[in-house]
Amino acid sequence: MDRFSTVGIVAAMEVELELLRSSLEEVRTISLASGTCYMGRIGNHTVAAVLCGIGKVSAALAVQELIDRFQPDCVINTGCAGGIAEGIKIGDIVISDQVSEWDLDSTALGLPRGYVCSLNTADIPADKALSDRIAAAVPEGMTVRTGRIVSGDQFVSRQEQRDIILGTFPDALCAEMEGAAVGHVCAQNRVPFSIIRCMSDTADHQSNVDFYDFAAGAGRTCNRILMKLLSD
Ligand code: ADE
Repeated sequence: MDRFSTVGIVAAMEVELELLRSSLEEVRTISLASGTCYMGRIGNHTVAAVLCGIGKVSAALAVQELIDRFQPDCVINTGCAGGIAEGIKIGDIVISDQVSEWDLDSTALGLPRGYVCSLNTADIPADKALSDRIAAAVPEGMTVRTGRIVSGDQFVSRQEQRDIILGTFPDALCAEMEGAAVGHVCAQNRVPFSIIRCMSDTADHQSNVDFYDFAAGAGRTCNRILMKLLSD
């Protein structure tokens, strides 16, 4: 990420963008088909942040609009997620090294689960330099892991969903509903991307309750990390 770059940010929910948006200087609001875009400055960076709503299609639309209208140098997706990996806890941070669409299922046609025809893979690599810089902005004392993030148009709370995810992607660290769509669109446009997520729940029978208690805090945590990244 260059010193004076334009950074596209995508968040699904208000609580996942609020803090970052309130830190933007010289902010202006632009209405897009995908949602509201907040354009402003943090440090030396121009930031275009879209609040896109939940789900992969919403996120994909937002990223394509960001790319077409503002030509960002990179795109970052921020928000909360349900922890999948053994031992992962609410409040832990996950940064992507790759993303996959766990609910994309053409297995009946002999294709691997998550396979994206246009990219010829189920594994969409995030930009390593960007992911490393995000990891370096995580405050001391927080638990941070870098690895695979999986996305689907389902809130994960049932064992059968976890079984599908881990049966296909045993290295999945967390599940959410936008990141792989952001990665998919960025890959097709050759725009570097990364995903930062803070765990609001552990994607199990308790996740719908935990989500409401912890999503706002998780959203703020990611925003703080991004603000440090952008102002350094
Ligand atoms: N975002 C936060 N928690 C989630 C979960 N359990 N499943 C999908 N998306 C999430």
